[in-house]
Amino acid sequence: MNARIAVLPGDGVGPEVTAAAVRVLTAIGEKSGHAFDFVEAPIGGAAIRAGLPPLPDHTLAAAKSAQAVLLGAVGHPDFDHLPPGSRPESALLALRRELGVFANLRPARAWAGLESSGPLKPEVLRGTDLMVVRELMGGLYYGQPRGISSDGNSAVNTMAYTRDEIVRVARVAFRLAQSRRRKLVSVDKANVLEVSRLWRTVVTEVGRDFPDVALTHEYVDAAAMKLALAPAAFDVMLTENMFGDILSDEAGAVCGSLGLLPSASLGEGAGLFEPVHGSAPDLAGRDVANPVGAILSAAMLLADGLGLRKEGAAVTTAVERALAANIRTGDVAAAGHPPVGTRAFTEAVLSAL
Ligand code: NAD
Ligand code: IPM
Ligand code: MN
Repeated sequence: MNARIAVLPGDGVGPEVTAAAVRVLTAIGEKSGHAFDFVEAPIGGAAIRAGLPPLPDHTLAAAKSAQAVLLGAVGHPDFDHLPPGSRPESALLALRRELGVFANLRPARAWAGLESSGPLKPEVLRGTDLMVVRELMGGLYYGQPRGISSDGNSAVNTMAYTRDEIVRVARVAFRLAQSRRRKLVSVDKANVLEVSRLWRTVVTEVGRDFPDVALTHEYVDAAAMKLALAPAAFDVMLTENMFGDILSDEAGAVCGSLGLLPSASLGEGAGLFEPVHGSAPDLAGRDVANPVGAILSAAMLLADGLGLRKEGAAVTTAVERALAANIRTGDVAAAGHPPVGTRAFTEAVLSAL
């Protein structure tokens, strides 16, 4: 296969972790006889610093014409004073919409050897293997009206969903559940919000087409609690945009580090693949960021974006081997094993490949 992959490194640790993912993609391509053509373009603060808008036209064009998009992270404190529409983060929201990626898959699991890296007791974490399916093109992030009043004394955002928006992401989640342990928890706030009432009604209707999947509903506050208390009880967790943003960071912490979590955003055209974490300005430029989230996003790019399931699985296995051999970055390093840097960890993954 010949595939063009748009690479958008972005800000903070974004360039370091995407470089790691590109090295792994190049290696697996060479090994398996696939040619990947990488086209790099600026996004977020990196674009603003170059005198461009957060999502330059040529970056959007490169993303749209690629078979898949690999993104690092956007956002930096230097731009925190800007209004929402001009910030680096606005580029990501526009890109997701432009690519039509409505289903954001965020897997999180307990890794062999990392049982003690997170805040939970190993026996609580053991067996955890869940998938957050986050709706990515609606809800509070995009709803109108939004804005701050001219006197600066009030502000509004709108959580809005249509039936169709709920149906399409629910179908993705049910199909995923069918390929996993056939359990789906839909997370909402139906005891307070009308949007959540509609969400629950529509997900229940969609569920009738998937009688082999056990559907339950959970309020978001209780779901957040259970995720910390008994993460292994979850299989697929389907939820709206903002709840999914919050719960997936929690899932990262529970499993040992936010730096471990990958994501795949799927829709009609090219998929978007990015780690769940942000630009981590506290770590940037020091070769200390964990590249696992980005490397596993590359594995999802292979499997879910290009249909190269065997190659995606090989990358995941290589990461498993490196972690199990106690080669780890500082966020998940085991006692008695000095942490390695981003690049050295990536070398270990390449050797394991
Ligand atoms: P963050 O995800 O960047 O960092 C949260 C915490 O996790 C920090 O302690 C950080 O050190 C740690 N962390 C993150 N990635 C890590 C990695 N690869 N290895 C080890 N530790 C890691 O979130 P934040 O600090 O709230 O946000 C920083 C900036 O990133 C903000 O501008 C925010 O808007 C942006 N952001 C972007 C994305 C994205 O591009 N998808 C996601 C989240 C936040
Ligand atoms: C994420 C990030 C983004 C989001 C921000 C940077 C817009 O937190 O990908 O989880 O909220 O979706
Ligand atoms: Mn987030």
